[in-house]
Amino acid sequence: MKNKSLISINDYSKEDYLEIIELADEFEKNPNQRLLEDKVIASLFFEPSTRTRLSFESAISRLGGKIIGFTDAGTSSVKKGESLKDTILTVEKYSDLIIMRHPVEGSSRYASEVSKVPVINAGDGANQHPTQCLLDLYSIKKTQETLENLNIILVGDLKYGRTVHSLLQAMSNFNPTFTFISPKLLQMPKEYKLMLESKGLKYEEYTEFNDCINKADIIYVTRVQRERFSDPMEYEKVKNSYILKNSMLSDTKENLRILHPLPRVNEISEDVDSNEKAYYFTQALNGVYARMAIMTKILGLK
Ligand code: CP
Repeated sequence: MKNKSLISINDYSKEDYLEIIELADEFEKNPNQRLLEDKVIASLFFEPSTRTRLSFESAISRLGGKIIGFTDAGTSSVKKGESLKDTILTVEKYSDLIIMRHPVEGSSRYASEVSKVPVINAGDGANQHPTQCLLDLYSIKKTQETLENLNIILVGDLKYGRTVHSLLQAMSNFNPTFTFISPKLLQMPKEYKLMLESKGLKYEEYTEFNDCINKADIIYVTRVQRERFSDPMEYEKVKNSYILKNSMLSDTKENLRILHPLPRVNEISEDVDSNEKAYYFTQALNGVYARMAIMTKILGLK
């Protein structure tokens, strides 16, 4: 893993996932280590972010590292027409590691091919969000005490949702049963369903919530992402397709936990927040420990 970029969750093996989870657990118990003291980490966000950027920054600060970068490409020379390649060839000279979020699918892979320092994909369009996936795995392991044989419901934008694509791929190593709930327009793409079939894994598909939530160990909710639609009318048709309410959780399993990568718009009603099965804000905190684990692993410090 040392000096290896993390672009897709498939860049890591099942053993790597388990190693990151173990390391994240160590960092959660002891977060104030100075492992990044002599490191400069570049954080290039070409798309908005709250959790990914700030949890990386929090992780870097707690580990004693320095952060450079931008939160808005409009303040960089990209605004003057500089290419992604030239931006990366410059930033690699200033840093030991590059974290990048970009709206174009494949941009992080391209940056990693150009860069001499490792690149971490912090989300590339509708493609991949591997660090979110690793913090999701950590959250699932913490709440269920295992990753094996779980009943997982994925809800919302399953077509463009990069977090659900990464999660589906990673969890397919642990014999899950999946249920997909989404409007027809935003169904899980065929290639992911074929992947599950090729591994002999079961899935069901619905267009709305039903009794299946009573069998779930994890309900992973995602928002309909306005920014992925080229036609605003299409977004208007599906934006309020499903809302998880507290009243729907009365017959669910004790161990059920509700996850959401956030931000939420209205797909989880605020009355769910006080239910002990709501886990999404703790999930966001887990991002700090998972990202500590990922960075120190890639830099060969652990
Ligand atoms: N989960 C996630 O990627 O959130 P942000 O867009 O706020 O970083």
